[in-house]
Amino acid sequence: MNKSDFPILTRKVNGKPLVYLDNAATSQKPQQVIDAIADYYLKSNANVHRGIHTLSEEATELLETTRKKVADFINAPSYEEIIFTSGTTEGLNFLADALTAKFVGPGDTILVTELEHHSNFVPWQKAAERIGAKFDIVEVSKEGQINLQDFASKLNDKVKILAFSHASNVLGTILPVKEICKLAKKFGTITVVDGAQAVPHMPVNVQSLGCDAYVFSGHKMLAPMGIGVVWAKKDILAKIEPARFGGGMIETVSKEKSTWAEIPYRFEAGTPNVEGIVGLGAAIDYLKQLGMEKVQDHEKTLVEHALAELTKVDGLKILGPEDPSKRTGLVSFCLQNIHPHDLSSVLDAEGVAVRSGHHCAMPLHIKMGINASTRASFYLYNDKADVDKLVKGIRKAQKILL
Ligand SMILES: Cc1ncc(COP(=O)(O)O)c(C=O)c1O
Repeated sequence: MNKSDFPILTRKVNGKPLVYLDNAATSQKPQQVIDAIADYYLKSNANVHRGIHTLSEEATELLETTRKKVADFINAPSYEEIIFTSGTTEGLNFLADALTAKFVGPGDTILVTELEHHSNFVPWQKAAERIGAKFDIVEVSKEGQINLQDFASKLNDKVKILAFSHASNVLGTILPVKEICKLAKKFGTITVVDGAQAVPHMPVNVQSLGCDAYVFSGHKMLAPMGIGVVWAKKDILAKIEPARFGGGMIETVSKEKSTWAEIPYRFEAGTPNVEGIVGLGAAIDYLKQLGMEKVQDHEKTLVEHALAELTKVDGLKILGPEDPSKRTGLVSFCLQNIHPHDLSSVLDAEGVAVRSGHHCAMPLHIKMGINASTRASFYLYNDKADVDKLVKGIRKAQKILL
C-alpha cells in the first residue's frame, strides 16, 4: 500500500533495509504531509486569529479547514467541538482536570480499566486523589481479556466518569465502545474514550459510538508530533472551565474579571501548533483517499499472517485475542528465556524496529505476570514480507541468545 510515498522507508538501518514495525509508538510520514508542512512555511507562516494581514488570514484558514476535516473524519456533529491539543496525553490531562472539577465530588467514583495506557490512568488516579473520590478499575483477566460484564459490575450511579481505550496499545484488543457507553449512560456516567490506537487504524464515528468525549494523537496517524485532538459534546464543553489561561482564549479581560471566548477557542490558550495542524489536515486527506476500511482490512491481513507465523515459533507466547477481527494491527508477545530488550537489539541489527518494555501499561503487565513484552505494530505501508523478516529475526535471536 503506497510504500513509495514514505521516503524514510527507503533508508537502511545497520546495513539492512528498514522494516518499521513500531507504528503504535509513532507512524512514519508520507511525502504529502511533509510537503504540506514545507508549503506552509514557504508560503503562509504567520500567527493565527488575531492578524489582519494576508499571511495570518491564510494560516487561520489552514487551521480552521483542518478543524472541519477532523470533525468530518470522526463524524463529530460540529467542528466547534474539536479542540486542538499537543496529543492524547495532553487531551486526557485536560479532560481529567476540567471534567472532574465540574462533575466529580468527594465520595464519587472515577472508573478506568486495567489495560489503559498510563496517559489514561494516572491523570484520573491523581484527580481522584485530589478530590477525595474513589478510583476504581475494571479488571482484565490474566490472559488480558475484558468483557461487558466486567464493566456492568463496576458501574453504578456513583460513577461520574468512565475513561477507557477504544483499542489497547499492548493487546490490540478492540473494546466494544458502543455497548460500554450504552451501559454507562444508564447511570449518567460521562464516557471518555482514548482513541490513540483506534483513529489511525479504523473508521471512527463518535456519534455512533455514543461516547461523550474522544481523544487521539496526530503522530500515530501520519501527522507530525505535537498535535492531537479532543472531541467532546458541546453541552459538556459548555459546562466546564478552561484549564489553561492566556492569549487567544479570552473574550474580555479587566482588573476585576475575565470572560472566555467561544467554544472551542476558550480551550486553546496561546499560539497553536499550526504546522502540526496543517500536517494533520494533510494526513487526514491521505487517509481519506485510501479509505479507513481499506486501511483496517490491510492491517487485518497482516495480523492474520503474523499470528499464523508467530504461532509456529517455539517458546513464543502471543498476548491478546486469538481472533484477528477483535484486534487492531499489532501483536505483542513474550519469548521464553529471552528478554524483550535483547530480542529488540538483535532485530535492530537486522533492520527491524519493534518496541520492548511495558509500553506504558504497567498495571496490565503486572496482571499478566510479566515485566515486559515485545510489540510489533503494523501500518498501511507494511506488507507480508515485513512480517516474514520479523519472524526470521526472532528465529535468529533464538539461535544467538539461547
Ligand atoms: C492507548 C494510548 N493512549 C495514549 C497514548 C499517549 O499518546 P501520546 O504520547 O501521543 O500523547 C498512547 C501512546 O502510545 C497510547 O497508545
